[in-house]
Amino acid sequence: MSQLNLILLGPPGAGKGTQAERLVGDFGLPYYATGDILRAAVKEESDLGGEAKEFMDRGDLVPDDLICKVVMERVDAPEAADGFLLDGFPRTVPQAEVLRGALERRSRHLTAILLIGAPDEEVIRRLSGRRVCRDKGHVYHLQFDPPKNEGFCDQDGSPLLLRDDDAPETVQHRLDVFHDQTKPLVELYEKQGLLRRFDGTRAPDEVHGHIRATLATLRLEEEL
Ligand code: AP5
Ligand code: MG
Repeated sequence: MSQLNLILLGPPGAGKGTQAERLVGDFGLPYYATGDILRAAVKEESDLGGEAKEFMDRGDLVPDDLICKVVMERVDAPEAADGFLLDGFPRTVPQAEVLRGALERRSRHLTAILLIGAPDEEVIRRLSGRRVCRDKGHVYHLQFDPPKNEGFCDQDGSPLLLRDDDAPETVQHRLDVFHDQTKPLVELYEKQGLLRRFDGTRAPDEVHGHIRATLATLRLEEEL
């Protein structure tokens, strides 16, 4: 079976994490979400967390060299030999170049970039209502995906919190950073024929169905 090396790309709040949870269930791929990795590092007060915290709190990107090292170690791990699902990386053109070079040196290539689109107003609505569980980061929305017990995670019972970078002024800055530094990747991957677009304003299960169908077709094409 060919490798499935996938990237989830999209603005903050487009639903990358929401779809990743479903896709991991479908394909059993190791999942690396750089935001989750960095938040865990901040919580553990590791060196990485110490370096990343001030950038994250402002809604800025952490430096490319810092994040590239973190991701390459994971992509090179034996568990990712048959494929991986990256969420939130690459986010700049230099990061995309580092990933491309590293994969090429190992005779690997990207299967597809899954771009989940959502307009800025929708992002702002979603992130103001998002709540994440304290222990595992399971994601909810006060209006669109509420937990069964108000204020607590359905899966592990831990309290639901607002993410530090979901304050309205920080969300606006994250959007600006996306348009400025990450959007150029859309054109880059389109030129390489790797980009697949999905309408992130549809209901989560609908978006999921579209992504699954696309991946099933890609797998068939690769096997031909
Ligand atoms: P990161 O954690 O990656 O944040 P992000 O890209 O801003 O994206 P989010 O996690 O906020 O949104 P999402 O698309 O996952 O949406 P979700 O599924 O939760 O990065 C955080 C920070 O880390 C960065 O700012 C930066 O500092 C640093 N960082 C990370 N990677 C880096 C890199 N490569 N380089 C440098 N720095 C890096 O959904 C959002 C909400 O909407 C939820 O409440 C959900 O329930 C709801 N929802 C989801 N889908 C739908 C739908 N279809 N309809 C209605 N509601 C929906
Ligand atoms: Mg996320």
